[in-house]
Amino acid sequence: MPEAGPQFLCRSDDLAERGKGVGFDVLLWRQPARGFALRIDGRVVAYINRCAHVPTELDWNPGDFLDAERRIIVCAVHGAQYAPESGRCLGGPCGRGRLMPVTVSEGGGEVSWYPSRDIAPLAFDEPAPPAPPAPNTEPPAP
Ligand code: FES
Repeated sequence: MPEAGPQFLCRSDDLAERGKGVGFDVLLWRQPARGFALRIDGRVVAYINRCAHVPTELDWNPGDFLDAERRIIVCAVHGAQYAPESGRCLGGPCGRGRLMPVTVSEGGGEVSWYPSRDIAPLAFDEPAPPAPPAPNTEPPAP
């Protein structure tokens, strides 16, 4: 299956330095999932919003991924800690796991994410709806 091109994620202005994350919908292994993007040290990073401990979303409130000092990503469920630059587990129940990265780029005031073998845009993978039945213009057979 061919991969789709870059997908609009948000405007650059939507991502403040170590501010709230911006979520986006994807298909991960053909199942609906969410991604999120953060701006860390000026650079945009993005991950699938799924903890390496238990596959659940990380944010405390929608878009709140970082700790009080805004240094690390902390899972709201059991407190796993992740490096925001790499998604690597720093401590807690994520063990040797890491967040699944999503490739992003920024240019022209916009941030885009790139589909991969595992991560697809929602519309890209959905089957086309069936065509409506053609109207029957033939008179009934005698
Ligand atoms: S689900 Fe994230 S630390 Fe347990």
